[in-house]
Amino acid sequence: MKKVILAVLMAALLLSACRSSGNSGAERCVSEDASYEEIYLVLVNKDHILPGDWIQKIELVSDQDPWGNEVKIEKETLEHFNELQSALQEEGVDIRLDSVYRSVDEQVALWKSFEEEYGEDYCEKYLAAPGYSEHHTGLAVDVCMMKDGEAVNDNDAMLAETKLFKKVHKLAPKYGFILRYPEGKEKITGYAYEPWHLRYVGVEAADDIADQGITLEEYLEPINAE
Ligand code: DAL
Ligand code: ZN
Repeated sequence: MKKVILAVLMAALLLSACRSSGNSGAERCVSEDASYEEIYLVLVNKDHILPGDWIQKIELVSDQDPWGNEVKIEKETLEHFNELQSALQEEGVDIRLDSVYRSVDEQVALWKSFEEEYGEDYCEKYLAAPGYSEHHTGLAVDVCMMKDGEAVNDNDAMLAETKLFKKVHKLAPKYGFILRYPEGKEKITGYAYEPWHLRYVGVEAADDIADQGITLEEYLEPINAE
């Protein structure tokens, strides 16, 4: 619990940094100085908080979830997601955007509601503390599946869709996405297997990561050590 309180405090600092720079969270904020790697290979995990100036470096655009709610997502990520979605439709798999960009405030609210409903252990396995979620980057996409005209987004129901997710994970790297929290890599990523959570890293990195069967942490370790 202490860890979460600390995370919330760090996140509040982060949020005030964004606000003091004149951004309220989800507006268009683009920096021409940021390199491709700085944006698309950013590491946000239990040990790495979202960079304080993040929101100025990216451009968030809007789309919709299957229920007609507006979702925000980083621009290049959406373009590549649309291509992946079309390719999968040809294979009979219909994925949609579910939870994409989340502000730190939204993660705080999500943590509270998950903690009340499922308890702290569940949160530690499936949910990042506010400020430490990849969803703050706009590059992470939780997908849901359309089946018989209905959107399936319940975690247990999606975990049971092994065949469909196999097709998603096989095709995703061609469009720049990786399966961010793979089975068997929980100690490295810090999270349980989440077949629905894809992360955009660009086509070259996604291909490398998938070919080597490694996580983003393992891929970046030698690069960050340079
Ligand atoms: N579900 C992932 C770990 C997140 O909350 O960012
Ligand atoms: Zn996710």
